[in-house]
Amino acid sequence: MTVHFIGAGPGAPDLLTLRGRDLIAASPVCLYAGSLVPAAVLEHCPPGARIVNTAPLDLDAIMAEMAAAHEAGLDVARLHSGDLSVWSAMGEQVRRLRAMDIPFTVTPGVPAFAAAAAVLETELTLPGLSQSLVLTRTSGRASAMPAGENLPAFAATGATLAIHLSIHNLARVVEELTPAYGADCPVAVVWRASWPDQRIVRARLETIEQAVAGSMERTALIVVGRVLAGEGFAESCLYAPGYDRRFRPQDASSRFAGAGE
Ligand SMILES: C[S@@+](CC[C@H](N)C(=O)[O-])C[C@H]1O[C@@H](n2cnc3c(N)ncnc32)[C@H](O)[C@@H]1O
Repeated sequence: MTVHFIGAGPGAPDLLTLRGRDLIAASPVCLYAGSLVPAAVLEHCPPGARIVNTAPLDLDAIMAEMAAAHEAGLDVARLHSGDLSVWSAMGEQVRRLRAMDIPFTVTPGVPAFAAAAAVLETELTLPGLSQSLVLTRTSGRASAMPAGENLPAFAATGATLAIHLSIHNLARVVEELTPAYGADCPVAVVWRASWPDQRIVRARLETIEQAVAGSMERTALIVVGRVLAGEGFAESCLYAPGYDRRFRPQDASSRFAGAGE
């Protein structure tokens, strides 16, 4: 018996990995975080599966479900939205599974920031503009931010920012980022990326609050950075015609000649 943690993706049911789909289909128990995991993903569950929405459960109750499945020798598909590496609450479940000696696997999913970048048709690391992406959030009721992890500190780097769980804090986001990024810095808010009712608002730091006008709540990602302008960046050396590289040696004297074979 194994608990399979599976990243269920950002919303569109066909953004689930094939491995995730197959594990769901092979697991007679499915525990899913119903606040964000789309119902269509549950259609992969086998007939007669025990399907439990964990949104109203506390951690003890969720672990009791896993322990009961373990007792019965039944595999569990444990679904969380997006990927499991960020804000999934997988860490606390894994810690308890280890203590209970229950085996588990982890299957990644498409994270919200990648889905948002896709709908914005934007590379978030453009040469000359930004080569780093900060995945962050502002503090909320459930989780305080550790000292040092704050927007002004991240803003000082000039990196592209993908700010999660913070649409209710938009005014503060604007206030804290404007000194470093400038009032004219492009911002995009993507609400429910990849869902049928997805919405995108593009503006600048100085106009984003007015543009959103309180029309979005909860499942929205705030992306901030000059990369959103889609201009003013350099082409990467990788594909430059004269760039000598392992997979495209320029001539026989190249130090890479014969190396890419
Ligand atoms: C609890 S976190 C889950 C993050 C998830 N594990 C991931 O990999 O993206 C929820 C936050 O992720 C963002 N989010 C999740 N799905 C999204 C989507 N489809 N569109 C925009 N933002 C999304 C929002 O900021 C939301 O408040």
